[in-house]
Amino acid sequence: MKNSLYKILLAAVLGLSTIAPIATFAYYNTSTQVETSTSNLETKLLETIDADNMYNTIKHLSKTPRVAGSLQEAVAVQYIRKQFESYGYTTQVQVFTFDNYIEPHTIQLALDGFTQAMKPLAFEYSVDGEVSAEIISAGLGTVDEIKSLNLTGKIALMQRGDISFKEKIMNVTTKGAVGVIIYNNADGSILGSLGEENDTSVPAVLLTKTEGEALENHITKNPGKIAALQIKGAKTQNNTSHNVIATKKPSNLKKVSTNEVEKHDIIVIGSHHDSVKGAPGANDNASGTSITLELARVLKNVPSDTEIRFITFGAEEMGLIGSAHYVENLSDNDISRIVANFNLDMVGSNDAGDLILQTADNKSNFVIELAQEASTKLNGKPTPFNQGNNSDHVSFANVGIPAALFIHNPVEPWYHKPEDTVDKISKEKLQDVAEIISLSVWNQIHIDQYAQ
Ligand code: BES
Ligand code: ZN
Repeated sequence: MKNSLYKILLAAVLGLSTIAPIATFAYYNTSTQVETSTSNLETKLLETIDADNMYNTIKHLSKTPRVAGSLQEAVAVQYIRKQFESYGYTTQVQVFTFDNYIEPHTIQLALDGFTQAMKPLAFEYSVDGEVSAEIISAGLGTVDEIKSLNLTGKIALMQRGDISFKEKIMNVTTKGAVGVIIYNNADGSILGSLGEENDTSVPAVLLTKTEGEALENHITKNPGKIAALQIKGAKTQNNTSHNVIATKKPSNLKKVSTNEVEKHDIIVIGSHHDSVKGAPGANDNASGTSITLELARVLKNVPSDTEIRFITFGAEEMGLIGSAHYVENLSDNDISRIVANFNLDMVGSNDAGDLILQTADNKSNFVIELAQEASTKLNGKPTPFNQGNNSDHVSFANVGIPAALFIHNPVEPWYHKPEDTVDKISKEKLQDVAEIISLSVWNQIHIDQYAQ
């Protein structure tokens, strides 16, 4: 009886392979004899990885930039979904919204009698506005420091430090200020953010330390002079982005009744599919996306006791937004069962350095252990790891899930540039990373005796 079951399973696997390009392993044995050894299956799995597939995915995706919220991102999402589905997966597209700040085209600050040139910068989320008013020095802008000042109808000049930009602005606007200038407390210019859109805010700009100190001097010597502050063209857009999720359930999954929770482990293999503006993002990160898709293809029919979720995230470049949204919406049970997050970001450039793993806390974890065991077996030495928190693994690490980034270090000169194109992609690098991850996952998930 078992024998005929194996034949049906085998026929199903092989049959499917004629209509979809999925892995064609004979995962079967008999009750008396293991017909295909584990090491053979492992070899077959690695041999099935096809660098041309990954290269073609990158070629397709990197025809245009894929900025989160753009039409091109939505088109890429449909392509990724169709690819997963062609391998036999059912997919889920998780939609989410995020705010995107458009910088002003005009920022001006002028003061009667003050001739020194100034290059005021807007904060992220600075609002538009045009005010003419006297500038008053408000120190660091703490509640204590400004309590005896009359700021009504005035522009408050403050130094960076002690409290956040947002708090400084809130403190002075509460006392009636109509504009804000904050200058650096160290040399060089700074980029600042107010954190979020705020309709009730006033125009606010940043100056360097030199500019700010000169301005302080000038207003002390020339009190009562009127300054003009103008910000034009800033706006906050509400955009929509997507995560694409394909799930491989454990092959030996027993039906759970409605009031029972699932107990099996989960592995998340993920990469972001969005790019920055103006960059076609062949390496950042069509490369990671292409490996995620290829791993989904080759692992599809591996008999496993673990669930695998293959996910491409949107809006990583806007601040890890897609992965944060995904993690926020996980149940506690899901979080406790995710044993590893493999994050692939910038994994195919000819012009970058060697493969490195990065963890948010600079400590080894289960993903590092799996990857180092696999890389030692494949390449004779473990892939090294160090600290890094610039990609989606951080969203998983933040809730205690073992997570690591796979990236080549140092990064290529075309990072976030229009030159990040498919002609600079290395098939060997794609193959190497795909092999390390598939072996890592295989070692963790495979079950030798199918349908016992
Ligand atoms: N692929 C990069 C991450 C990266 C770049 C890691 C260089 C290590 C070295 C990613 O897409 C990115 O650009 N991340 C942002 C940070 C993120 C929090 C918005 C970055 O590094 O500026
Ligand atoms: Zn990236």
